[in-house]
Amino acid sequence: MTRVIAVTSGKGGVGKSNFVLNVGISLAMMESSVMILDADLGLANLDVLLGIRPSMNLEDVLLGRAQLRDIIVKTDYHVNLIPGSSGTQDMADIDRDRIAALIGAVKDSCRETDFLLVDTAAGISSGVVAFLLAVPEVIVGVSPEPTSLTDAYALIKVLKRNGYQGRISMFASMVKNSSAGHGLFKKISSATQRFLDIQVEYLGSVYSDEKLTRAVSDQVPAIVRFPTSDISRCYRVIALTMLGQKSVSADFEKFWSRLVSMIMKGAKPKAVRAEALKGEAPGASMEQIFHEILDEQRRTRLLLERLVTRIERQDLTENLGKKGYSA
Ligand SMILES: Nc1ncnc2c1ncn2[C@@H]1O[C@H](COP(=O)(O)OP(=O)(O)OP(=O)(O)O)[C@@H](O)[C@H]1O
Ligand SMILES: [Mg+2]
Repeated sequence: MTRVIAVTSGKGGVGKSNFVLNVGISLAMMESSVMILDADLGLANLDVLLGIRPSMNLEDVLLGRAQLRDIIVKTDYHVNLIPGSSGTQDMADIDRDRIAALIGAVKDSCRETDFLLVDTAAGISSGVVAFLLAVPEVIVGVSPEPTSLTDAYALIKVLKRNGYQGRISMFASMVKNSSAGHGLFKKISSATQRFLDIQVEYLGSVYSDEKLTRAVSDQVPAIVRFPTSDISRCYRVIALTMLGQKSVSADFEKFWSRLVSMIMKGAKPKAVRAEALKGEAPGASMEQIFHEILDEQRRTRLLLERLVTRIERQDLTENLGKKGYSA
């Protein structure tokens, strides 16, 4: 069974694309078959990170110019890449048969795939939320910046409010060490447990490492360019943790039709956005949801700050207690 997993974040630039690529390659090194889908439709860049230039993408399939098998890129690292599309005006009138044909083709080509990893744009700032609701597993990247934390919480809250039933995991990104990563997880998970009654699973941390920046500029994945570095170890540990998680079954059809809706949104924003959310939040347009998210962010930032201070105070008290000091 294929595990379909989307990687997202509340705030942009936390290291999602590098995560997808390097964890994907690590999983492939561990004998899993891996397909990566670049669904960051605004700024697809997995091809840049891989140093390749796909000549065609999903848009060509949807417009009938290519078959799915023509656009799948076999990389040098034993992972296959489906290049995304940023959506054009032409896509407003794609007929249903073509979408159904794409879904059928994807089902066929994923038959042998263990992991379909989807790189998305940051969830808060785009129509990604509607798409995420159709993905059985969502991984949220969180960096130590306070806004990354609150935006991740707000994103999880929006998923919950819209009835999301899948698994939510998190990785800590650009942290100094694993205890800093775990600290971030504790902050998020205490808040989601307490206020949303959601258990977030922890996958581990990715350290802040200038080797990653070097790998990005060399256009070679860090795990290949610097296989023995700390950051590569971080990605491998996360891949192992993911292998240890139970699989969650995917509704492939729903997933792909949402992906197509998201692509077509580029051509017809309002109609498709509202359509995409039907069923999850009756009457809510994407614009309304954005406003709610922004309000939510303001409110939760305050709440989280209080909660984090309390947790830190508690930790300090516990540590002092362990060391024999009285608080
Ligand atoms: N672990 C890390 N250590 C050091 N720098 C990092 C790390 N992760 C990401 N970066 C820096 O952040 C940049 C953006 O990374 P990446 O493209 O993976 O983020 P993203 O979350 O996909 O961004 P976007 O939201 O724009 O899609 C990298 O080019 C690199 O400079
Ligand atoms: Mg990215």
